[in-house]
Amino acid sequence: MDAGLQVRDLHVRYTDGTWALRGVDLDIGAGASVAVVGESGSGKTSLLKALLGLLPDGTEITGRATFAGHDLLAATPPERRRLLGSVVGYVGQDPYASNNPLLNVGRNVAESWRAKGLRVGAERIADTLQRLAIPEPRRTMQRHPHQWSGGMLQRGSIAAATALAPGLLLADEPTSALDAELADRCLDDLLSTAPTALVVTHDLRLAARHVDMIAVCYAGRLVEVGRRDALLDRPQHPYTRALLAALPVRGGGLPRPLPGTPPDLRAPDSGCAFAARCDCSVPACRSRVPSLVDGVACDAIAS
Ligand SMILES: Nc1ncnc2c1ncn2[C@@H]1O[C@H](COP(=O)(O)OP(=O)(O)OP(=O)(O)O)[C@@H](O)[C@H]1O
Ligand code: SF4
Ligand SMILES: [Mg+2]
Repeated sequence: MDAGLQVRDLHVRYTDGTWALRGVDLDIGAGASVAVVGESGSGKTSLLKALLGLLPDGTEITGRATFAGHDLLAATPPERRRLLGSVVGYVGQDPYASNNPLLNVGRNVAESWRAKGLRVGAERIADTLQRLAIPEPRRTMQRHPHQWSGGMLQRGSIAAATALAPGLLLADEPTSALDAELADRCLDDLLSTAPTALVVTHDLRLAARHVDMIAVCYAGRLVEVGRRDALLDRPQHPYTRALLAALPVRGGGLPRPLPGTPPDLRAPDSGCAFAARCDCSVPACRSRVPSLVDGVACDAIAS
């Protein structure tokens, strides 16, 4: 039995016909961390929510996803409740939506233990918040979510998600509201408590400092997956290259914004989804969907 996360041919289609995922395959070995990067709307949150069973009713989900012998897609609601928190931890993209506004933040964090019938003292919660650089945690945790800043609440969500040291952590932009130094500290903390992690981020540089591998998502597919340094130093897929060229470089030339816009995800599949924006595109690119071969989904590179 593989102890890591395996995702096979995962498709997600919302009730309005949007194909948020169109066949995602991903392996994360036990103990490894992967960052998923890509433009807004590329399917990153849908991937995490599909694994957690948090997609809206009526969403079509097909494929297979397993972690440490647990079948994540086939789990029943009671099985999911058992898995969530102790086997799979989740930091949601919107920390305000993840917290109960009627409970103070200390109680919100304590729910991770209470949901499993465990007791936890205020000291333990305060220690965790202190580690995540929350000032005066004993006093601050008495405040309600609307009295915390977005960045503080992200740290509260990290504290809750890692409370029971789950084997797999799924984190959706967990540090987007933090400055670079705090983001580094909190991501370090988050990854040190989770043996296996899948972290969504827009920040390629932050990912580069922390994770083992990077997966690049475009229009519902992973178009490049590889070890962090190799992918950043020698990006293969034209989309990965365009993402990196769009980053500002200290002392370098001006960043080049990505041309065009992503495709309509309700349209049927026809050829490479990046073709209209790709400066390497040839006519054949519009008639065949490239599959991920040796970590890259581009026929021009595979041939
Ligand atoms: N409940 C929904 N119903 C219909 N379409 C949805 C729903 N949720 C997301 N989508 C669509 O699915 C696609 C993928 O959305 P998703 O939220 O997974 O993207 P994302 O990569 O997380 O984006 P962001 O970086 O902005 O958070 C987008 O086109 C989005 O508009
Ligand atoms: S398959 Fe063609 S259009 Fe798609 S990324 Fe490769 S070269 Fe560009
Ligand atoms: Mg998202």
